[in-house]
Amino acid sequence: MSTERKPLISGNWKMHHNHFEAIQMVQKLSYILNPQDYEKVDVSVHPPFTDLRSIQTVLESDHMPILLGAQNCHWEEKGAFTGEVAATMLEKLNVSFVIVGHSERRELFGETDAEVNKKVKAVLKANMTPIVCCGETLEEKEAGKTEEKVIGQIMSGLANLKSEAVGGLVIAYEPIWAIGTGKTATPEDAQSVCSLIRSTVKEKWGSAGEAVRIQYGGSVKSGNCPDLMRQPDIDGALVGGAALDPDEFARIVNYRLVG
Ligand code: 13P
Repeated sequence: MSTERKPLISGNWKMHHNHFEAIQMVQKLSYILNPQDYEKVDVSVHPPFTDLRSIQTVLESDHMPILLGAQNCHWEEKGAFTGEVAATMLEKLNVSFVIVGHSERRELFGETDAEVNKKVKAVLKANMTPIVCCGETLEEKEAGKTEEKVIGQIMSGLANLKSEAVGGLVIAYEPIWAIGTGKTATPEDAQSVCSLIRSTVKEKWGSAGEAVRIQYGGSVKSGNCPDLMRQPDIDGALVGGAALDPDEFARIVNYRLVG
């Protein structure tokens, strides 16, 4: 992992924890982590929308250096979009990162590459950082279509962005077959796709390719994180299930001590 790119370990809580449970989670996490842990690694938590305001208050009043993240947003600033939440509303909660185009949004809620692109632009316009997700299904992997799928998602998801914007992004490579299944990509396979993502970004956006942070996601645990993080093009992890246990998530944040 390059010295210029600070690792980012993110906990995607998905649809888990009401706001009471969420407060307990971050308090426990902050109790376990030491101030110096955050100097080496950026840490973000992505609770459901209903928890954001409560967590923001706890993080800010207790000066916890955990960064707040959301799991989705809408691209419009306001309007008749029942059930949606605007990026600008998240900005007001001091949200730092917004996950965009998670495979669960794409597969279960029909989110398209064009919508991902609009969301990425809305998040950037609202001064937050998108974590743009990509990854192939098992069928695509077995058919040798991983590269085509991932490059396609990156090129469409980041279409019409300037190099300065792309350099500040986070891209999460999450092979769909590895999510919630206990099957992790081998560090070498994950590295090979993350390296492909970086070279794709370099080819199109030049130096942004060196700056962009690339996370791996899919059954990351404290046991497999050190080997994944040793790969030169993996700059962090997007963690689902293991992020729901503060002790385990803290071990992942401190992956250097485990491996
Ligand atoms: P798991 O860590 O539970 O496999 O989930 C990964 C994920 O989807 C994170 O966004």
